[in-house]
Amino acid sequence: MQDLLNQISTTANLEELNALEHELFGRKEGKLTLAFKELKDLPVEQKKQRATELNILKKQAEELIEQKKKELAAPSDDTLTSTQRLDVTIPYPKPRTGHLHLIPEFITQIEEVFGRLGFEVATGPEIDSEDFCFNFLNIPETHAARDAQDTFTIQNTNEKMVLRPHTSNVQVRYMQQNTPPFAVVAPGKVYRKESDATHSPMFHQFEAVMVGKDISLANLKAILITVLQELIGREVEFRFRPGYFPFVEPGLELDMMWQGNLEDSREGKWLEMGGCGMMHPNVLKHGGVDTTKFQGFALGFGIERLIMIKHQIPDLRSFYEGDLRFLEQF
Ligand code: PHE
Repeated sequence: MQDLLNQISTTANLEELNALEHELFGRKEGKLTLAFKELKDLPVEQKKQRATELNILKKQAEELIEQKKKELAAPSDDTLTSTQRLDVTIPYPKPRTGHLHLIPEFITQIEEVFGRLGFEVATGPEIDSEDFCFNFLNIPETHAARDAQDTFTIQNTNEKMVLRPHTSNVQVRYMQQNTPPFAVVAPGKVYRKESDATHSPMFHQFEAVMVGKDISLANLKAILITVLQELIGREVEFRFRPGYFPFVEPGLELDMMWQGNLEDSREGKWLEMGGCGMMHPNVLKHGGVDTTKFQGFALGFGIERLIMIKHQIPDLRSFYEGDLRFLEQF
């Protein structure tokens, strides 16, 4: 009988298990059934011991059968063929799922970092009037900065329209629709007639504006340094220097130290990252802001340049060439 029990443990098929059960418990011929029947013929002294043995066997057999039935109903790994079995320990190549391009990815990070500091996200049009791109920003038609922007103009429109050369067109647009205090960040595409290792005719900037009662240059520096360190994720050498933009007073520019080689560039080791400063009262007035109550700062930074510094990418044009060998590294 013990080997019947052993067979129950090793069987892998339900029919065989039923046959074994029958062989043990069958009403007429079952080995256990018979053994129980034979008890009555035994002498009293043996009867008790034999009954105990048989009861233990019976219990074991019942348990084994029940367990086996469960096992066979829900197939375990052992009952699966080798092709059905899943070996989770086999090293598996990472699936090629793709990912966001460096630029939209960085823009998401910009929105997150500023978002944590309480800034809202806004956008502005890429084709905009000269008013929002220049005039309202205190840059009159005769101003030298107008030339320096190298702006693409749109022909055949009544109003003079341009491809915005900076995200600063968002400043007055946003102020006209919102009342201070507020803080806003606006990333997007900008266009200028220039192309080399650090310039592209289309590139990205983000503009941030904070207007409130006591907003100062100290707030500007604190926020800017916090944001840049979060975005670049490591210590980068930077310097502030005075800068001139007609829409801020005082104005500052921020450079970051580039450690690698930039052969095809008109710039040196210090890469200009962006400009910032306290918003000029004329700009605030165009936005409908009461300058006796409120003041604010504005900043505008180049996104590609920050990514170049972050990942040590020596040529900004790599961003747009669509070469997978480049894109897949990030
Ligand atoms: N718009 C400026 C540029 O593109 C940057 C800037 C933005 C400077 C906001 C000051 C304040 O160069």
